[in-house]
Order: sequence, then C-alpha cells, then structure tokens
Amino acid sequence: MILTGKARIAGVMGWPVSHSRSPRLHGFWLERYGIDGAYVPFAIRPEDVEAALRALPKLGFAGTNVTVPHKETLLRLVDDVDPVARRIGAVNTVVVGADGSLSGSNTDAFGFLEHLRASAPGWSPAAGPAVILGAGGAARAVCAALADAGVGEIRILNRTRERADAVASLAPGVASSFDWRERGAALGGAALLVNTTTLGMAGQAPLELDLADLPTTAVVDDIVYVPLETELLRAARARGNVVVDGLGMLLHQARPGFAAWFGVEPQVDDALRDFLLADLTR
Ligand code: ATR
Repeated sequence: MILTGKARIAGVMGWPVSHSRSPRLHGFWLERYGIDGAYVPFAIRPEDVEAALRALPKLGFAGTNVTVPHKETLLRLVDDVDPVARRIGAVNTVVVGADGSLSGSNTDAFGFLEHLRASAPGWSPAAGPAVILGAGGAARAVCAALADAGVGEIRILNRTRERADAVASLAPGVASSFDWRERGAALGGAALLVNTTTLGMAGQAPLELDLADLPTTAVVDDIVYVPLETELLRAARARGNVVVDGLGMLLHQARPGFAAWFGVEPQVDDALRDFLLADLTR
C-alpha cells in the first residue's frame, strides 16, 4: 500500500481492537478499487474515546467505525445521531463532515437485512412471524430492522426476560417478549428464526433448541459466524429450512461506512467472503 498526501484515512476504535475483522475487510476493498486510502485499527481505552473522537477532524480523518465497548458511549459524543442508531442505542459508524462535525449511525440493521435478502430471496416481511433469540445489541438491531421492513409480528426470547422486554419495546404492537423456556413453542408458525445469542459460538455453550414446531418453510439465520455453520444451521438445513450464516451481516454492515469515507459503493461477493473466511479458519 502506497499512500499519497491526499489519502483518505478511516479506522475502527475498540478496546481491545485486535480481534476486529474490519481492517482486513476494508483493506480488501481499498485494494480492489485501487483507492488512495487506509483503514487502521485504533486501540482506544474507554477513558480516551472522547479525546480520540475529537481528534479525528483535527487529523483530517474521514471517519471511523466503533466497536465494543464504545458503541453506546458514542451516542452522546457525536454531534448528530441518525434515528436508527438512536433507536438501537448504539453507534457503529462515524463520518466526519466537511465542517468537522461528527455524524453517528448504526449500520447493523442495514447489514442484517441486506444479507438476509441476498441469502434468502424467497423470504419477505409478509411471510409471517419472526422469532429472535437474545436481547443484546445485535438483537436490538435485528428487531429494528425487521419492524422497519414491515414484519407484522416479532417474538423475542431471552434468558433474562427484562432484556427481552426492553428489545420488544423498540417495536410496540409488533414485538412481544416470552420466557426463554418457551423458545421451542414460540417457533410455531414462524417464517424466520434469528439467533443473536452467543450460544453455539466456538468456545461457548451450545444452543439447546427443539426445532420440531418450526415450519420447514421458515428461514433460519444465525448471526454467529465462528463456526460459519453452527449446530443450529446444520440441524435446520438437515430438515429443509433455508439457512443464512452470520458472516454476511458483518460484510454488509461495512458498506455504508466505506462508501461515505472512500467514495465508492463496495460490493459483497464470494471473493470477499473467501478472503475473510481464510482468516476466520486460521
Ligand atoms: P451483543 O450485544 O453482541 O448482541 P450480548 O449483549 O453479550 O451481545 O448478548 C449476548 C446474548 O446471548 C444475550 O441475549 C444473552 O442472554 P442474557 O441477556 O440473559 O445475558 C445470551 N446468552 C449468553 N449466554 C447464554 C446462555 N448460557 N444461555 C442463554 N442465553 C445466553
């Protein structure tokens, strides 16, 4: 990578940041499109995030992604928050304006929906109820995305019921919460099942879920991407459900930031997936 004096610079702020796949992902696109720019990891301690953020315009940076543990803090630090980020309660993308102002957005809902539509073209918001397992930041993004897309009924199930209630309140009249132990029965008549918990992830406990009540026409989406084919997706595929893996959400959520910072609409395709997968399986 050779930069000129006009290079555009962006990055990702996290603590730690070493696990982030984003530098590799954006680096692939920068090389593919021959862009005079760079995307770098910023290891920023929580107590330094405000100073680091304020430095971006002074350094002439185009913007940044933010990841754990800064996503919620950024809501109150940026000058302008888009309505989706406000609703989800987290910012993951910051764009520096021409006047040096900082605009925060959340591209997780966009990334989730774009990947779902690309991987399961037969699914539509009108297909029927959606079931979401989990109630963390990812569940909030998925719930907002599905409600905004027009899904009429969303069932949220989480080990800690109060957190499920909080996610359901994002979509009044559409989303409702249920006890975690009802997760098998909640699959009855569903058109979409989304796992946003960490269960089934490498090194975590398995997701114990009886799929018997889930129609075989339902789409099963697991946002876990290590392993790429989780036990949930394997079991769902075996009984005939269309399955959607978690890697695509990561790839698609990166598109709006890249376009804003570097001026090119990047494409998600198999070459990009394979490039990221080579890293995940190492
Ligand atoms: P993120 O913000 O990335 O979505 P998170 O806030 O850590 O992640 O959420 C992890 C999710 O996995 C939560 O819904 C969590 O349930 P709780 O809200 O009850 O903590 C869920 N989870 C993690 N371990 C679990 C377990 N052993 N059984 C059931 N749910 C679990």
